[in-house]
Amino acid sequence: MALWLVSVLVVWTSVLGLTQCCPEPCTCSDKYTHQFADCAYKDLLLLPVGLPSNVTTLSLSANKIKHLEAKSFINVTQVTSLWLAHNEIVTIERNTLAPLVQLRNLDLSYNKIINFPWEDLAKLTVLQLLKMNNNEMINLPKDAFSTLKDLRSLRINNNKFTTIVQGTFSSLSSMSHLQIYNNPFTCSCNLEWLRDWISESKISVPEQDSIVCEAPEHLKGALVTKIPKLDCRAPTVSITYQPKLDNTELYEGFMVILNCEIKGNPNPKPEVSWEVVNGGNQKFTFNLPSVVNEQSDLPVNDKTTNGRFLVFQNGTLIIPRMSKKEDGNYSCSAVNDLGRADSTVKVVVAGTKKQAINSMLDTTSGKIRPSGGSKNGVEDDQERHQLAQV
Ligand SMILES: *[C@@H]1O[C@H](CO)[C@@H](O)[C@H](O)[C@H]1NC(C)=O
Ligand SMILES: *[C@@H]1O[C@H](CO)[C@@H](O)[C@H](O)[C@H]1NC(C)=O
Ligand SMILES: *[C@@H]1O[C@H](CO)[C@@H](O)[C@H](O)[C@H]1NC(C)=O
Ligand SMILES: *[C@@H]1O[C@H](CO)[C@@H](O)[C@H](O)[C@H]1NC(C)=O
Repeated sequence: MALWLVSVLVVWTSVLGLTQCCPEPCTCSDKYTHQFADCAYKDLLLLPVGLPSNVTTLSLSANKIKHLEAKSFINVTQVTSLWLAHNEIVTIERNTLAPLVQLRNLDLSYNKIINFPWEDLAKLTVLQLLKMNNNEMINLPKDAFSTLKDLRSLRINNNKFTTIVQGTFSSLSSMSHLQIYNNPFTCSCNLEWLRDWISESKISVPEQDSIVCEAPEHLKGALVTKIPKLDCRAPTVSITYQPKLDNTELYEGFMVILNCEIKGNPNPKPEVSWEVVNGGNQKFTFNLPSVVNEQSDLPVNDKTTNGRFLVFQNGTLIIPRMSKKEDGNYSCSAVNDLGRADSTVKVVVAGTKKQAINSMLDTTSGKIRPSGGSKNGVEDDQERHQLAQV
């Protein structure tokens, strides 16, 4: 008789098993229309398997979970609240969170997340509360929150974000609360928008005394809301050259001097480089050092190219002995946070002095040729300025 009872019980639970059982060591309860699975404070290393398929609130807080594998929530897609705070999560694979399309509250705070699968977040379009604070995240893509129209509260404080791209919060039309304090912000031109945005926004941004600059050195500790107005400018570039074309034709053996001039006092200091493209598609890139050593007037380029080009830290490029091999496009470019500019001159040798062959390539760019009507020599080919896409 007793045996019979036991077997009935086993059959009974396995019939309902798929939906109703509650995995060890969780406790499950039904309240109104909510199915609550409480698995908090259980020293769990992994997600429990066999959760009720209609669970709506899943608490896994304060466990020891390190990894969330793709599709681990594939059978519990009705979850609206997922609590995962105070675990040891380092990685969340792609497609872990994406199936949880009903999610309204997600708490991943107090973990060790470095890389977050932002593409998954984009699928959680009804999310209202997102807590990612106290993790180790470094990169925040500009479109991270672009689909979260219902998001009201976002907490990304206490991470390792060094910057927040302008526009990151602009889609968050329902947001009323934003925590970004205690991140090691680099207060460069790229972050200047945030100072103005915080003061103008209607969103509550608490703990502004802890929204501070970590870099650059001279702004370390300064409040982001008080960073001085930075004079941020994109670089402009022009190339001057010798010999001047008006007076001299360019023959083999001549020395050509090209000076790359950065104008307009750009800030931050741009990175400058020369690029040479010779006929035969030989390409050389010479990066100028960002820190100038006042003492040195030696070329900065590699010895192997010294015979043909001498590049100096002040932006001068010298072609010691012009020959057909050095015919080509010489471009100087300068890039900073705000933009990039470059300027190109075409250098073409006329031949040996006796031949004086006109070998200048025609340009179709419609630029005015240097005066004198000569077709050889150095010609301003193009000068471009474009704002960097950030
Ligand atoms: C969840 O499923 C179980 C078993 O089918 C059922 O008893 C319970 O009422 C359901 N809960 C909700 C909130 O739908
Ligand atoms: C989801 O359910 C299927 C079918 O019951 C099962 O085979 C699978 O292991 C479950 N996956 C997870 C992650 O629970
Ligand atoms: C130099 O630039 C011009 C115009 O941009 C181009 O037509 C020409 O092929 C370039 N020359 C070399 C050697 O790359
Ligand atoms: C840059 O430095 C080199 C080497 O010291 C010098 O020959 C050249 O004239 C300098 N260029 C300018 C524009 O001052």
